[in-house]
Amino acid sequence: MNFKLTEEHLAVKEAARDFAQNELLPGVIDRDRDMIHPTEQLKKMAELGFLGMMTSPDYGGGGMDTLSYVLAMEEISKIDNSCSVAMSVNNSLVCWGLETYGTEEQKQKYLTKLASGEWIGAFCLSEPEAGSDATMQRTTAVDMGDHYLINGTKNWITNGGSSSVHLVIAHTDPEKKHRGINAFIVETDWDGVTIGAKEDKLGIRSSDTHTIMYNDVKVPKENRIGEDGFGFKFAMKVLAGGRIGIASQALGIAQGAFELARKYANEREAFGKKISDHQAIAFKLADMATDIEAARLLVHRAAWLKDQHMDYVAAGSMAKLFASEVAMKHTVEAVQIHGGYGFVKEYHVERLMRDAKITQIYEGTSEVQRIVLSRKIQKGNLYEPILG
Ligand code: CAA
Repeated sequence: MNFKLTEEHLAVKEAARDFAQNELLPGVIDRDRDMIHPTEQLKKMAELGFLGMMTSPDYGGGGMDTLSYVLAMEEISKIDNSCSVAMSVNNSLVCWGLETYGTEEQKQKYLTKLASGEWIGAFCLSEPEAGSDATMQRTTAVDMGDHYLINGTKNWITNGGSSSVHLVIAHTDPEKKHRGINAFIVETDWDGVTIGAKEDKLGIRSSDTHTIMYNDVKVPKENRIGEDGFGFKFAMKVLAGGRIGIASQALGIAQGAFELARKYANEREAFGKKISDHQAIAFKLADMATDIEAARLLVHRAAWLKDQHMDYVAAGSMAKLFASEVAMKHTVEAVQIHGGYGFVKEYHVERLMRDAKITQIYEGTSEVQRIVLSRKIQKGNLYEPILG
């Protein structure tokens, strides 16, 4: 077993760290406060290849492994989680989903633009009444012969206002339950696609999260992904990988808060010495470092399993469950270590604390991860592949 990162991995991590420090840190507080979409920042991320890291160079991507991707995600998430969630959705859900399950024609037409970052994609599964229970899709896609007609509403769509392509999950035959669900590639400038108002959120405030309405949207037959009825499995499969991306986001949030807390604790003095010399603070930092390292091992292992083409479903859920709880717990501690300074925007930790919360909610709540894990445990083997 070798825990040492290669030169290539270290180079990716360093490039992401430099970019985050130099390009994302300036202005992050203002963008968060005023909900300003990081359009320019995402454009630079596209130029540097961060939006299609794992996609083959044949389709305009970086051809890197999942470990490189989570290393970059961690660095970017230390600073700006509105950027890292856009990166995560585009890489893990949209590009990976299209590269793995799309037709050659779909890849040439859409993936090339998405992996290069010329276009950004969104993944449209959640609905007003279909969150954790993703089978409860009310959006319908009626087969009209040479095309489908899509009607419905999607909620909480990351990249909702800035994307050129949506992967839309819809029921084509509700009687078949989850086996009657399909996934479609929808261009956002097609007739009948309406982008609702941007959500005013607790965290990741500059990320553009929108409700999307589809009203008689005509989608060509060739834009369905996979065989008829594959849509639910498509969603589950891309989300299994997406959870590794969100786990690395949570890891970055926790690491970022830890670094700020450590710096502050080494500078601030109280009762005649640095607060890091007080055991109350020193032990908090020790606990933070230990939990963060454990989260990192889970995240890297899940990424490694994916790169080995082994079953990573349980590993991804464990990584997300644990890393997001570590992020929430330790960003609260980082604020506490900062005292009053932690409560104001200038010191960055309050933003990381607000951002941490969403990692326990999107791409499956902590409860959903426990459902995934407990079902695997019931079957007796956490790493038995779910096929199909
Ligand atoms: N891979 C392949 N197939 C899978 C699978 C996987 N990982 N997980 C489930 N399946 C298959 C099952 O084998 C089963 O297939 P068969 O019918 O052939 O047996 C089928 O899917 C149904 O499986 P379940 O009975 O387990 O499904 P369920 O209805 O009980 O749901 C669930 C399970 C895990 C709770 C699922 O509904 C789920 O993941 N919910 C959360 C949805 C979610 O993560 N939403 C996030 C929205 S996207 C987002 O947040 C992006 C963003 O903006 C940041």
